[in-house]
Amino acid sequence: MSSALRIAELPQEADTLEFGRRLGAALRAGDLVLLDGPLGAGKTVLARGIAAGMGVTGRVTSPTFVIARVHRPDSGNGPALVHVDAYRLGGLDEIDDLDLDTDLTEAAVVVEWGEGLAERLADSHLMLRIRRRPDDVREVALEPHGESWDARIPELLGR
Ligand SMILES: Nc1ncnc2c1ncn2[C@@H]1O[C@H](COP(=O)(O)OP(=O)(O)OP(=O)(O)O)[C@@H](O)[C@H]1O
Ligand SMILES: [Mg+2]
Repeated sequence: MSSALRIAELPQEADTLEFGRRLGAALRAGDLVLLDGPLGAGKTVLARGIAAGMGVTGRVTSPTFVIARVHRPDSGNGPALVHVDAYRLGGLDEIDDLDLDTDLTEAAVVVEWGEGLAERLADSHLMLRIRRRPDDVREVALEPHGESWDARIPELLGR
């Protein structure tokens, strides 16, 4: 599959939630997922779907004051989700202060607005770029970085 074909079309919010759910169900501790896209693209909606798929507690919101929030597994095992909104982060020092590399040993980390900062945390990560088309349909392009993601993409796309 060429990288150009790794695009999912998400017409409704429910489709974005479902896409996130499928991704979340496949996530493991140590996974880093970056969500890119303009204001209102649907990054938080996607993160909400991921949380549902992981079966973690707590409402996923666009945090105003909190930069990172930990969502623990609802029951028993499975990794926690650390949801980060890096919009207000000043730079590399501030992201280092969050100790996300420690989180990555036991949690999956999902970062909005993390490009240029968060990919330093793990060579291998999944970049999801969300685009809002003029007809309001969201297109999400999946960019795997590192070998393991390459192999996991077909499953995430349900193919
Ligand atoms: N197909 C769709 N997928 C996702 N969201 C959609 C879709 N269609 C409409 N929406 C609406 O678009 C908005 C997306 O908001 P969301 O907070 O997820 O964006 P965001 O990318 O996190 O923005 P921000 O950069 O401000 O954090 C929601 O109000 C949602 O209801
Ligand atoms: Mg958001």
